[in-house]
Amino acid sequence: MSNPGNGGAVDEGLGAEGGSGEAVAEGLVDGAVDGAVDGAVDGAVDGAPVDETHWVRWHRAYEDPDSALSMRLRLVQDGVREVLDHHPPGPIRIVSICAGQGRDVIDVVADHPRRADVRARLVELDPELVAFARARAAEAGVGDVVEVVEGDASLAGSYAGALPADLVVICGVFGNISDDDIRAVARRMPALCAPGGTVVWTRHRRPPDLTPSVRGWFAEAGFVEKSFVAPSPYVLGVGCHQLVGGAGEGEADGGTLDPDLRLFDFVGNGSLPA
Ligand SMILES: C[S@@+](CC[C@H](N)C(=O)[O-])C[C@H]1O[C@@H](n2cnc3c(N)ncnc32)[C@H](O)[C@@H]1O
Repeated sequence: MSNPGNGGAVDEGLGAEGGSGEAVAEGLVDGAVDGAVDGAVDGAVDGAPVDETHWVRWHRAYEDPDSALSMRLRLVQDGVREVLDHHPPGPIRIVSICAGQGRDVIDVVADHPRRADVRARLVELDPELVAFARARAAEAGVGDVVEVVEGDASLAGSYAGALPADLVVICGVFGNISDDDIRAVARRMPALCAPGGTVVWTRHRRPPDLTPSVRGWFAEAGFVEKSFVAPSPYVLGVGCHQLVGGAGEGEADGGTLDPDLRLFDFVGNGSLPA
């Protein structure tokens, strides 16, 4: 298994390319990522150990609407909204893999006319982030259609009963798993998706930019690209890929997945150097 992209600390690598001045002060430079800024302050980069609250701190950048992470969030939310806008009448099944605070799904569903049709499962390991997501869904009045599961998102069994999905959100993951695992996830994704289902994914584009490969892997797996956004000068990428035809690899739909199947190893923990 190859090394994870560019390390957990840099995750989506949202920083501007070669930024300086204010951008540097905000940590928005290549090699740092807002969200990892906290980690840098706390010495969570350059190989220093991190504590179990690392991912809680990572999410603080969402509190700043001008952060690169917040900009990424809006792009992801555009992808989520697009699916809800155009889905035919009936249930809309959503799964979010390593959901974090769940803002990408919860905030869009809360404001959408199709909210009552949504059946969303968000899977997240960190109990504090799970509590945040549950509270946010409840406050937004969508606690009945957004289920937040505290569990291991890398296990296929975490999605039992929630598949096949019309929308799979996998954001903040491809910077924290190996290149081989990203490819394997893309190849496996047709088994999680309903026919015509969409995957919204993110990945930083710091050199060597893996996003061209990721886009190719989704194409190989039977997806067409609805959009890929890589706004300059940031080094983030947000992709939306739609499955054409049915499920792949001989699996009729998500219901056939072995619950013990491990989809990926989440190796990023913020301790790797940028
Ligand atoms: C980079 S954050 C992304 C969160 C969210 N998807 C977003 O984009 O804002 C990665 C998240 O994955 C979670 N995570 C790590 N390993 C996990 C696992 N095995 N199962 C579920 N969540 C996991 C972390 O707790 C963290 O919240």
